Amino acid sequence: MHHKQRLENMNEISTVFAQSPSNIAIVKYWGKHGNQLPNNPSISFTLSRCHTDTSIKFRRNDSDKYTMRFLFEGKESPKFQEKIEKYLIDNQQYFGFLKGLDLEVESSNSFPHSSGIASSAASMSALVLCLLQIEKAVNQDVTPLDMRKASFLSRLASGSAARSVFPVMSLWGATPSISDSSDDYAVPLADMVNPVFKTYHDSILIVSNKEKSVSSRVGHSLMNGHPLAEKRYQTARENTEKLLKVLKDGDIATFIEIAEAEALQLHEMMATSTPPYKLMEPNTLNIIEAVRNFRQETKIPACFTLDAGPNVHLLYPDAYDSQVKSFIKDNLLQYCHDNQCIDDIVKKENII
Ligand code: PMV
Repeated sequence: MHHKQRLENMNEISTVFAQSPSNIAIVKYWGKHGNQLPNNPSISFTLSRCHTDTSIKFRRNDSDKYTMRFLFEGKESPKFQEKIEKYLIDNQQYFGFLKGLDLEVESSNSFPHSSGIASSAASMSALVLCLLQIEKAVNQDVTPLDMRKASFLSRLASGSAARSVFPVMSLWGATPSISDSSDDYAVPLADMVNPVFKTYHDSILIVSNKEKSVSSRVGHSLMNGHPLAEKRYQTARENTEKLLKVLKDGDIATFIEIAEAEALQLHEMMATSTPPYKLMEPNTLNIIEAVRNFRQETKIPACFTLDAGPNVHLLYPDAYDSQVKSFIKDNLLQYCHDNQCIDDIVKKENII
């Protein structure tokens, strides 16, 4: 059947839906080249409670063009509309199936707008998962979604979004010990991870909800010509291989070393770029110090990581949940904006 004929059957409005989570990197992606290709591999936990819900209503129009209207939490959002339009145009070779359709995209986040949590990984992967369902509807293809393709297309929208399509943990970027790893898409690590890591919590301590002074886009570009860039990429490559072994062995002590070193190195890259900048705030450091003291005193294996921002992600196995929650309440919320902390957990494997 030709594209146009298939669309004849789509005079009615159809709807597709996808929910996709945020993720938090342990080995960080910082620095890219070409079309959203990473300069080193990265590994992340896939979260569950911070997610974007996206639905797309679509119906046939009488042209060979598509139209797209975007609503964020019920309201028009020119900024996101423009971002999605640019993505669809830049990558039109993959989206030929949209021709002749009117699309109405509606998106909402489970986490508060004003939490300072980066949402592009969740939102762009949710969008891609919807678009791929439309492709299947247009082609009357009933096979399961190709998650590798979803990861590939998510990467083109927002690098780290490539890692959000798989539950538990993902690896994005080619690394010697994983034969099907690639810079083009992420691969799932769920089968290579000791059960303890599937129980991890991520309590996100909101130090500030302000928009970042330097965006990730600019941050990545400042790695070009950075005097420490090659050393950083080499360290990240080594940490990727080390972490893969640690994840398999359930070696929590080394996990902590790698996670915290990666977080601080990311922010060191910012401090030593031209021009230099910092995204950490005094309360970021207060939390880091309190976490390290807590670990030393109690031997509870909680550790921190940071995104490209001031908020602290506190990572710990479920076995210590109640002790860490008390510690957060008694010692850390005082450093958080409006006492805000978002309790997230690793996304379990999809139940099919
Ligand atoms: O996906 P981007 O371009 O927003 O970059 C994400 C960069 C970090 O969050 C700092 C690290 C990572 O690997 O997620």
